[in-house]
Amino acid sequence: MKSSDVVEEYANLKWDELGFCLIPVDYMYVMKCSKEKNFSHGILTRFGRLEMNPSSGILNYGQGVFEGLKAYRTEDGRILLFRPEQNALRMQMGADRLRMPSPTIEQFVDAVKHTVVANKQWVPPPGKGSLYIRPLLMGSGPVLGATPAPDYTFLAFASPVGNYHKGYLNLVVEEKFYRAFPGGTGGVKAIVNYSTVFKPVAEAKAKGFSDVLFLDVKTAKYIEEVSTSNIFFLKGNVISTPATDGTILPGITRKSVIEIAQILGYQVEERAVAVEELFDSEEVFCTGTAMVVNPVNSITYQGKRIEYKTGPETVAQKLYEMLVGIQTGRIEDKMGWTVEL
Ligand code: COI
Repeated sequence: MKSSDVVEEYANLKWDELGFCLIPVDYMYVMKCSKEKNFSHGILTRFGRLEMNPSSGILNYGQGVFEGLKAYRTEDGRILLFRPEQNALRMQMGADRLRMPSPTIEQFVDAVKHTVVANKQWVPPPGKGSLYIRPLLMGSGPVLGATPAPDYTFLAFASPVGNYHKGYLNLVVEEKFYRAFPGGTGGVKAIVNYSTVFKPVAEAKAKGFSDVLFLDVKTAKYIEEVSTSNIFFLKGNVISTPATDGTILPGITRKSVIEIAQILGYQVEERAVAVEELFDSEEVFCTGTAMVVNPVNSITYQGKRIEYKTGPETVAQKLYEMLVGIQTGRIEDKMGWTVEL
């Protein structure tokens, strides 16, 4: 065997320096949809550019949804995915809302598995991060009038990642812009939900905040979510989080953290959380696939800065440790959430 035949276990990368930005890996997975609106067999292809019709539904009308999930390497070298069928289900919900056909759960999970296996050199060593997989579904066929595209493409690409934010979060309550409205697309992972938060987030960052906290559009009295994550509030033994009533993204990390918190003996309430509750919460933390569980250091509302407990002795830390322990195979997965490749 020549040395060029040896497949290195790890790609040549500075694993200690991972942040959350694209590191192009070797392969992506592409699957096209037939005229009958069925997805056929997908293929692995070198990661690279896509040929796009300038008149495609995604480019002109933003007809697309995406997902995000992670693959972790365990101490003994196995690779684990976390609840990929939940991402498949959420993509189906989003596809339905944007009038798109979607892959079956099996097709979605299979695509993710192929993407990870083909890029396994890019799954970071234990403790250094994860491989973030980004499945995308879009209207790729041409349209001119505002109608659903005639053809669809599903793809999955990946990138090794570390932390989304460095350190604790300092949020500001957004009082001019809103993320979602009843009957809109806030409850699905529509691509357009994310570009509309760029402006408020940029303005907040220019003032030294890490991110914004959105309120409900009807009354501006209730908390919804942060630009890319769900939010939780702790008071005593009770953990509260806004209910997923259509304007809140049903996060898979959110759902998992709720279950873990209940196992750990906390009472979890999914309900409308009033903005006044910012003042008497002891801890606040955000959850998301990219963020995992990220503690909030402060929230500024109408010019008043409220501070919360952070650090190793917090509930947020306990939840983080149990979640990541399961995701990385350090803690026994009694829920059957992980999928080994
Ligand atoms: C994720 O957490 O996977 C998200 O979709 C947020 C993304 C904007 C990084």
